Amino acid sequence: MSTPAKAQPNAAVGRTFTLTDDQTGKSYKLPVIEGTQGPAVIDVRKLYAESGYFTFDPSFSSTGSCKSALTYIDGDEGILMHRGYTIEDLAEKSTFLEVAYLLLNGELPNRAQLDKFTRDITYHTMVHEQINYFFRGFRRDAHPMAVLCGVMGALSAFYHDSLDIHDARQREISAHRLIAKLPTLAAMSYKYSVGQPFMYPRNDLTIAENFLYMCFAVPAEPYKVNPILADAMDKIFILHADHEQNASTSTVRLAGSSQANPFACVAAGIASLWGPSHGGANQAVLEMLYEIKSKDRIPEFLARAKDKNDSFRLMGFGHRVYKNFDPRAGVLKKAAHDVLHDLGKTNDPLLEIAIELERIALQDDYFVQRKLFPNVDFYSGIILKAMGFPLSMFTVLFAVARTVGWIAQWKEMIEEPDLRIGRPRQLYTGPTKRPYVVVDKR
Ligand code: CMC
Repeated sequence: MSTPAKAQPNAAVGRTFTLTDDQTGKSYKLPVIEGTQGPAVIDVRKLYAESGYFTFDPSFSSTGSCKSALTYIDGDEGILMHRGYTIEDLAEKSTFLEVAYLLLNGELPNRAQLDKFTRDITYHTMVHEQINYFFRGFRRDAHPMAVLCGVMGALSAFYHDSLDIHDARQREISAHRLIAKLPTLAAMSYKYSVGQPFMYPRNDLTIAENFLYMCFAVPAEPYKVNPILADAMDKIFILHADHEQNASTSTVRLAGSSQANPFACVAAGIASLWGPSHGGANQAVLEMLYEIKSKDRIPEFLARAKDKNDSFRLMGFGHRVYKNFDPRAGVLKKAAHDVLHDLGKTNDPLLEIAIELERIALQDDYFVQRKLFPNVDFYSGIILKAMGFPLSMFTVLFAVARTVGWIAQWKEMIEEPDLRIGRPRQLYTGPTKRPYVVVDKR
C-alpha cells in the first residue's frame, strides 16, 4: 500500500501581504496562500479590481499560474518529486507506466490497478490506419518534430468519441490514447525519415521495449530488444514525464483553459517543447559537442558562452528553476555510463568532451556565480545517440515522455471547479489614440 498523499492545505491562512501605492498612499491587503511545500503565494486576483494595477512578470519568474498537486521542485536544493516521491526513487525503483499512473491518479497503483492500467494503455497502442497517409504528405527529410506536431493535431479528427472534456470517462480514454499512441507516432516519424516500413506495436512488450522495437526492428529480420537499452529508455521516459509549469506544460494548460480538446492541447505542447531553450536542447547539446570536436577546443567555446556579444550558450547548462545540479542529470549521468559500457562505447569521444566540459565549467567563476549546472539534456543526448537515434529524434523522445505530464496537468486543470479561460494582461507600450491619415497623405 502506498502512503496516502498529504492533504492540500491551500486555503488562505489569514496572513496578508500589504502593498502600498506611494503615489496615493493607499494600501491593499492581499491574501497569502500556502501550499504543502515551497514558497507561499500572494493572491493578486482581485488586485486590478481594487487598485487598477496589473502585475508585470513577462517570463513568469515570480508568478504561480495555477494550483497543482503533481510535481514539486526545489530548485535551490536540486529536488524533484512527483506526488511526494523523489525522482531518484522513481527512476531506480519504478517504471514509466507506474509513474504515469501516479501522475494521473495521485497514488502509486497496487498490482491489480497496475495490471489494468497496463492493459488499458497497451490496448490503445495502434493508430487508425488512415493516419499512415498523413505521414506520406511530409517530405522524407522533414524534421520529426514537425511531423509529430502535425500528426498530433490530426488525432482529434480521428477520436471523436473521447472529445467531450466534461465527461470524466472520455477524459480518461483520451489520456490513455495519448500515452499509448505517442510512442507509436514517434516511431513512425523515425521510420518515415529513414524510408523503412512502419512496424506495428507489439503488445507483449513493455512500453520502452515496444518503442525500441518499433524504431529499430525491420520486417525482414528478427529483433531482440536489449534489456539494458530498454531499461535506460524507461528511465529517460520517467525522468522527462513531468516538470511542473514549464513552457510546454503552461502552453497545454493555456490551450486547454479555452476548453480545446486534449489532442489539440498536446499538439500545442509539442510545438512549445521544440525550441532549443526547452526540449530542443538535447539535440542542441549533441550539435554543440560535434562542433567542439576535441577537448582542447573547450576553452574557446567556454569563452564564447561567457561573451555577451556572442549569442552562443553552453547547451545543456543552466535552468530557470534549478540553481543546483538538476537531479535528473545525476541519474542520467550514471545511465549514460551503463549504456555506453554495455554497448562497448566507453571511449566515445563525445562523452569524453562532455565530461571534460562539465568538469571545467563547474570550476569556472562565470558558471559558479550564476549557478549554471548541467541539466537533464546534457546527458540524455549521449545515451540516445549511443542507442542509435539520430539527433533530430531526441526532442521527439522528450515529447513521448512529457505527454504523460501534459495530459495529467490538463486533467487536473479541467477538474478544477473554478476553471476559467487563461487570459494574461499586458503593459501597453504602443502609440496612444491618433487620427487616421489617408494613404496619399502619409
Ligand atoms: N550558457 C551561458 N550563459 C548562460 C547559460 C548558458 N547555457 N544559461 C544562462 N546563462 C547566463 C545568462 O547569460 C545570464 O547571464 P547574466 O546574468 O550575466 O546576464 C544568467 O546566466 C542567467 O540566465 P537567464 O537567461 O536569465 O536564465 P533563464 O532562466 O532565463 O534561462 C535557460 C534558462 C535554460 C533557457 C538557459 O539557462 C539556457 O538557455 N540554457 C541552455 C539551453 C538549455 O540547456 N535548455 C534546457 C533546459 S532543461 C530542459 C527543459 O526543462 O526544457
